Amino acid sequence: MFKLVTHNKNKYEEMKKIISDLEMVSMEYAEIQADTLEEVIDFSLDTLSTVIEGNFIIDDSGLFIDALGGFPGVYSAYVFKTIGNEGILKLMTSESNRRAYFKTVIGIRFNGINYKLVGICHGTISTKESGNNGFGYDPIFVPEGYTKSFAEMSTEEKNKVSHRGKAVRKLAAFLERFA
Ligand code: IMP
Repeated sequence: MFKLVTHNKNKYEEMKKIISDLEMVSMEYAEIQADTLEEVIDFSLDTLSTVIEGNFIIDDSGLFIDALGGFPGVYSAYVFKTIGNEGILKLMTSESNRRAYFKTVIGIRFNGINYKLVGICHGTISTKESGNNGFGYDPIFVPEGYTKSFAEMSTEEKNKVSHRGKAVRKLAAFLERFA
C-alpha cells in the first residue's frame, strides 16, 4: 500500500481508480506561498517527511486561466474558497479568450528523495456552471475535444484526459518500476 497524504477525498477517489494499491492518510497541512506548484510540493514533501513515516505521495493542483495571466494558479485553493466558480465566471464575463489549463504536480517521497510528476489538461472556461460530479472548478472547465464540463463526466471519463489522470499514470509507471 502506498500512502496518499491529503484531506481531499475526491483526489483520492480519482487516483484510486488508477492505482488500487493506494491508502489515504487524511491530513490537512499548511502550504507555503510560492510562485510554482513545484516549489509548494518540494516544501510540503520536506515538512511532511518529519511526521509521516516511510514513503508517501501528495498532489498539488491549480487552474491557470490565460486571460487572467495564469490566475488563480498557485492561489487556486484560496480563490475557490473565497470567490468560487461564480467569482471566476464574473471575472471572465465578456472575455472571448476562454483558454485555460489544469496542472497537477504529484510529489513522491521515496526512500528519502523527492520526485515530481506533472500532468496538464488544456481546455476552456465555460460561461456557466454545469454538472454535479467531481469537485472544485470541475463545473466550469471543459477539456479540449469535449463539449461538456469535467463535472458532467464520470470519474473514469475525467481520468482519461485530466491533469491528475495523466500524472497518476506516470506515478503508476514509477511505482511499477521502483517500488
Ligand atoms: P489543491 O491541489 O488541493 O491545492 O487544489 C487547489 C484548488 O483547485 C482547490 O480549490 C481544488 O478544489 C481545485 N482543484 C484541484 N484539482 C481539481 C480538479 O481536478 N478539478 C477541479 N478543481 C480542482
